Amino acid sequence: MNVRDSILVTGGAGFIGSNFVLGWLENTSSAVLNLDLLTYAGNPANLASLDGNSRYAFQRGDICDAQLVARLLREQRPRAIVHFAAESHVDRSIVAPDAFVRTNVFGTFTLLEQARIYWNMLSGAERDGFRFLHVSTDEVYGTLGPEDPAFHENTPYAPNSPYAASKAGSDHLARAYFHTYGMPVLTTNCSNNYGPFQFPEKLIPLMILNALEGKPLPVYGDGKNVRDWLYVEDHCAAIRTVLEKGRPGETYNIGGNSERANIDVVNTICDLVDEMRPGAGGERRKLITYVQDRPGHDRRYAIDATKIARELGWKPAERFESGLRKTVRWYLEHPEWIENVRTGAYRAWIEQNYAERAEIEPVRQGLK
Ligand code: NAD
Ligand code: TYD
Repeated sequence: MNVRDSILVTGGAGFIGSNFVLGWLENTSSAVLNLDLLTYAGNPANLASLDGNSRYAFQRGDICDAQLVARLLREQRPRAIVHFAAESHVDRSIVAPDAFVRTNVFGTFTLLEQARIYWNMLSGAERDGFRFLHVSTDEVYGTLGPEDPAFHENTPYAPNSPYAASKAGSDHLARAYFHTYGMPVLTTNCSNNYGPFQFPEKLIPLMILNALEGKPLPVYGDGKNVRDWLYVEDHCAAIRTVLEKGRPGETYNIGGNSERANIDVVNTICDLVDEMRPGAGGERRKLITYVQDRPGHDRRYAIDATKIARELGWKPAERFESGLRKTVRWYLEHPEWIENVRTGAYRAWIEQNYAERAEIEPVRQGLK
């Protein structure tokens, strides 16, 4: 890629990363090099619309590969690194935590260390303007009770799943690189995202696809766990804002101010699918099946995003109801994308995660 103004994105073939790459090329005149290992979660089809775009380049590779990262930084001389690459699914982290520690902790360390070497070689405006933006999650803060105030930037870390613990480890390393070396690192901690291109192992796309196909809709536990949902394009806009205006060394919480209980989200999805694809017996709500809970399942997440609103002027543009409607429509309009992600690896995961999850009797639990 022969463009002077560019950024390096890691994990740009995943859900949020690919939305970010598309949004970056649309909203800026700068270029992107996307470094992605293409694990089960990485999907080049998300970026197929960029074929032939001279401002976009792809490199398949591992963020744990220091030599590769060093070479890319030397050759590309990006003005920023936006780091999405991670293992991201809590249920997988419970079954097989190794990959989470490797990619999320060691991979982030490798990237930070190579970025430091690169940054130290820069001088003048190039050095002053360089940024390392580490994309993280609200799950590092642990869980909230029903009346607790939402997570803010000074909420103590209390990660509960191997996924959250590995992201917390990466956040601490990012913090240390600012405090120890003065490297211009920024960290964002965001709530649950939803929208186009999300791999259907996560709640919202899984429920949309199962509802479409008349399959059971597996709700964990009593369905009353609460998540604070943010439309993915709002997250991408927030990251662009932090990159442009954020103060190095700071962390910014990003959230949609849209707390919803899982069962309410699933009911709404059922109604939207009924509306957009009537027939087939209708009433997708009948497919809801309460299943054995996730071990250590965090009860409630909620983000206090006043810092980024006050200091940088970012606010979410999408309301949850309109964003969910757009998302359901997107999945209905992209059957070829769905076919493409449903590889053997996807089917194996669904088999592993749900086959042994016993159904819970909802009446006995007082849930219906
Ligand atoms: P995702 O699982 O959809 O995508 C992860 C991407 O990283 C994939 O393209 C994968 O191929 C790539 N990858 C994995 N290991 C790699 C490695 N070793 N080297 C290079 N590439 C590798 O994840 P996502 O949902 O898009 O999340 C992106 C980031 O945002 C993650 O860091 C996640 O912790 C964070 N985050 C996600 C959410 C959410 O709701 N999805 C919310 C807040 C923060
Ligand atoms: P998920 O999309 O995995 O995100 P996270 O665990 O990172 O918040 O899950 C969102 C919520 O939905 C969470 O409370 C777990 C619940 N859930 C189910 O009830 N059934 C499912 O099949 C899945 C995947 C999640």
